[in-house]
Amino acid sequence: MCGIVGYVGNKQAAPILLAGLEKLEYRGYDSAGIAVRNGDGETDIVKAKGRLSALAHKTDQGRAVLGTCGIGHTRWATHGEPSETNAHPHCSDDMNVVGVHNGIIENYQELKAKLMRHDYKFYSETDTEVEIKLIDYYYKKYQGTPVDAINHALVRTRGSYALAVMFKEYPGEIYVAKKDSPMIIGVTDEGAFLGSDVPAILNYTRNVYYIGDMELGKLTPGKVTFYNLDGDEIEKNPVEIDWDAESTDKCGFEHYMMKEIHEQPKAVKETLDMYMNDGKIDFSGLIRNPENSGNPEDKTTLDDVLKNLERIYIVACGSAYHAGAVGKTVIEQLTDIPVEVSLASEFRYCNPKLQKNSLVVVISQSGETADTREAMLLSEERGIPTLAIVNVFGSSIARKADFVMYTAAGPEIAVATTKAYSAQLITLYLLAIRCAELSKSIDENRAKELLAALNQIPAGIEKILEDRERIQWFAAKYANSTDVFFIGRGLDYAIALEGSLKMKEISYIHSEAYAAGELKHGTISLIEHNRLVIGIMTQKDLYEKTISNMAEVKSRGAYLFGLTSYGNYSVEDTVDFAVYIPKGEEVFAASLAIIPLQLLGYYMAVTKGLDVDKPRNLAKSVTVE
Ligand code: AGP
Repeated sequence: MCGIVGYVGNKQAAPILLAGLEKLEYRGYDSAGIAVRNGDGETDIVKAKGRLSALAHKTDQGRAVLGTCGIGHTRWATHGEPSETNAHPHCSDDMNVVGVHNGIIENYQELKAKLMRHDYKFYSETDTEVEIKLIDYYYKKYQGTPVDAINHALVRTRGSYALAVMFKEYPGEIYVAKKDSPMIIGVTDEGAFLGSDVPAILNYTRNVYYIGDMELGKLTPGKVTFYNLDGDEIEKNPVEIDWDAESTDKCGFEHYMMKEIHEQPKAVKETLDMYMNDGKIDFSGLIRNPENSGNPEDKTTLDDVLKNLERIYIVACGSAYHAGAVGKTVIEQLTDIPVEVSLASEFRYCNPKLQKNSLVVVISQSGETADTREAMLLSEERGIPTLAIVNVFGSSIARKADFVMYTAAGPEIAVATTKAYSAQLITLYLLAIRCAELSKSIDENRAKELLAALNQIPAGIEKILEDRERIQWFAAKYANSTDVFFIGRGLDYAIALEGSLKMKEISYIHSEAYAAGELKHGTISLIEHNRLVIGIMTQKDLYEKTISNMAEVKSRGAYLFGLTSYGNYSVEDTVDFAVYIPKGEEVFAASLAIIPLQLLGYYMAVTKGLDVDKPRNLAKSVTVE
């Protein structure tokens, strides 16, 4: 996803802008650029297609661009191909207005036609250039302040945006506006900083302001002023970020992804500890968002909602959706509550039939995924309470949900999620056990057994990681595989979904997750000599069925990778390569089984020499629909 940075203060801006953009590289991009107000009152704009290093080279690491007020951008192409022309910043032809944008202007064609009727010309294919020139148009038409011009433009704009804009007649000032796309602001004695996400400004300050939707800001050296759409000043309080700078470095690992794979025991334990008190689950701190109920006295707790649940809807995208698929199986194994899992991008458009006494659970690492956010808002419009499972504090989804369960995975930099997925599983397990306790579908002893099993997960992950060289050896041997199948039944199929995505998204090997029992209904025709099939068999009562499916594909030439628990050594009578996970509560097996599959995808990508942390075409957070 696009990244935005800005700085105005007493230091040279360009190096600060480049450093901030580097911290946002993980969001995914295909070009970059900066704009800096120089001493002569002009603005230098420098852009480059490709990696940030190209822009750094063009600007001599920023040293060649003078000035103490500037904005920067990494572009993930939505409208218009990746190119230097389409890269941001964009500007009005007379350089009166220069700006960068993250999001999508949905009515940009309509606005472009309007501006062309007023003799505006366009040099790029982007929606952003239209928005910047729209601001310029209203600035000249009404001869007001930059805040007035931006307000006039935003009233005419449909879509999502995080905008940072500079005006020729207002040197030393950066104006920002936001709707649905992320933006945070920090202020120190050295200046005012803005970024799309915490890592961009964490090295300068950990006290940040979250600008709200349809709000504006004016950054000047050492100060930020906020406004509403009427142009009235509004007060905002800074929030302290408890991330440490180390958490956004590789700490000796070759890639962020491997570092984050190894952080999973800590992410699991810290997430668990957030919701445990004296050996029991404690959701008492989960109280309904008063902004949603409109009643500051509303003290409805999540427990109050869980007590009367008749159905749960889980809605998410990508790996978060796969975590939801695990959550469905776990909740339905521990309670009598039916669970429906939906892709957020489908849920929004299928006119979902949401019944009363239900809960919509949205899962999102970034808390900024547009489809997931809109699915949550749709549920709230239908009067259904929402619970958001989110990793980024203060993110859009977290701030708009009725209830929020934060995960404690810490900042996740690699595009391919690992530790956040594992932390999402923990919150779903806790939700399942709590629902089971409240509906009395499990007794106190069973609850204690399950909680003890959760406490064993970090050690189980550690044990698997100790044995990672076997996976590394296998990945090196089979990195040239094509069309890999991940098969499993029940919970193992949910695990297969995530294992397959890990392989696809970082090693670019096409793979499919398939319900093992479904293969014989057509897809088995794709099995041919040496086709790699990865069978996941963590569930005792499904083991025989899946091992039979593995034998079926083996008889047709497949090469079998079997993943099961220690003790099921008979698996080696059928598979060609066996990987074992520690025995434990089968209902929580996904937390362990996913580790070898994460490692497999990682090592295959490394063997192929690919960019593991920033896979092609991908963004860490998809803030556009
Ligand atoms: C997973 O490795 C991907 N990065 C992607 O599928 C991701 O899980 C999905 O885009 C959802 O993102 P979110 O959790 O931030 O909403």
